[in-house]
Amino acid sequence: MSQDKATVTLGTSGETAEFQIIGGTKGIPVVDIGTLYKQLGVFTFDPGFLSTASCKSDITFIDGEKGILQYRGYPIEQLAEKSSFLEVAYLLMNGELPNSQELSGFRDEINEHAMLHEALRSFFEGFHYDAHPMAMMVGVMGSLSAFYHSELDMEDPEHRKISALRMVAKVPTIAAACYRHSVGWPFVYPRVDLGYCENFMNMMFSLPSQQFIGVDHYIDPVAIKALNILFILHADHEQNASTSTVRLASSTGANPYACIAAGISALWGPAHGGANEAVLSMLSEIGSVDRIPEFIARAKDKNDPFRLMGFGHRVYKNFDPRATIIRETCHEVLAKYSNNDDPLFELALALEEYALKDEYFIEKKLYPNVDFYSGIIYKALKIPVDMFTVMFVIARTAGWVSHWLEMMSEPNHRIGRPRQIYTGYDSREYIPEDQR
Ligand code: CMC
Repeated sequence: MSQDKATVTLGTSGETAEFQIIGGTKGIPVVDIGTLYKQLGVFTFDPGFLSTASCKSDITFIDGEKGILQYRGYPIEQLAEKSSFLEVAYLLMNGELPNSQELSGFRDEINEHAMLHEALRSFFEGFHYDAHPMAMMVGVMGSLSAFYHSELDMEDPEHRKISALRMVAKVPTIAAACYRHSVGWPFVYPRVDLGYCENFMNMMFSLPSQQFIGVDHYIDPVAIKALNILFILHADHEQNASTSTVRLASSTGANPYACIAAGISALWGPAHGGANEAVLSMLSEIGSVDRIPEFIARAKDKNDPFRLMGFGHRVYKNFDPRATIIRETCHEVLAKYSNNDDPLFELALALEEYALKDEYFIEKKLYPNVDFYSGIIYKALKIPVDMFTVMFVIARTAGWVSHWLEMMSEPNHRIGRPRQIYTGYDSREYIPEDQR
């Protein structure tokens, strides 16, 4: 821990106060301005949290300049190569990699909680067939709070653990049910004999009349490996918009299922988890390789709101380590499944090549991010486009619940309550309706 101090002097009054500069195990030091208002009577202003750390956390470390991402100290490259999603979920939630017995116990617990309460079916019936699956995800995840509210004592670590487990276990079942509802197929129960990713694919695509339809992806190692890697890469990303939303909601002591539903809502936006779906829409809009220069020009034009979806990142300014890992998998998956019959894949690879050579993108350090490739992989695996962000939800639930567990175990956590700069009217008198 650094003992350095930062001094703030107010220009108008010349008043001065000192603030401690604190640091964690590694990473950028932080000026602790918690007493700024008390000492100097001013707030800080940092829209978009460009320079603000909102909490201390042991879970994930990112160095955006160097392209480093670590979960509990383990490099993402090693986890993606050697681990499984469930092992990573255990690591995030518990802080350590499980031994064989712990992992097998965790698998059993996940299997035990993977089923949905039968009464949840009626929730799905309330949605129109063309409801966006993310809208259903928000609603159904939030509705779990109605099922599990009474047996939740937030002060009890065991109760918290079961809530977290339930969410990681049930999220693929809910996700698959959203898809099945939209196509009018019967829901499929989870199976204890299948792994986490295989189970999800089975719940998505198997029919009572035949074991599995479409491509035989759930028994195919290339597809399952790709899903496993994607879920690991998406499992956590420290204080991103959706995780911060979960933390803010949790800071009020709200029910955890409702807090995770809030995180799902925040993830939905195209600047965050919705980017993988937006990538596919953008590729459809571009349509053909010869139109790439036109769209690149639009992306650079400040008067045009069009942005190249799947490019750029708030934190990674040199490269996204997740994209480096998944790029290879993406090319593997395309080689196996695209059969060169979908011009979209050729277009995606051409756009990647074009943008990587473009001066504007090089100068602004705008590289393809993980979601440029994840959308393309999901498309090749025949996951419907509007389910892409739902796939992100499945993975990120492990991260959200880990942050929730971490926060709830802190003895003195406070309600999150930012300040504002008020820019509205000064005080004015009420005008009666007949005089307005
Ligand atoms: N296409 C064209 N120009 C861009 C893009 C883009 N995708 N991204 C950033 N820029 C430009 C931007 O206009 C700005 O230019 P200038 O300096 O001239 O004003 C500069 O690059 C810096 O961009 P910024 O908007 O200040 O960066 P940010 O950190 O606020 O935004 C971002 C990061 C990810 C929201 C943004 O890059 C973006 O909108 N990308 C497309 C959406 C996307 O792919 N999102 C998924 C992120 S990865 C998944 C996740 O972790 O959630």
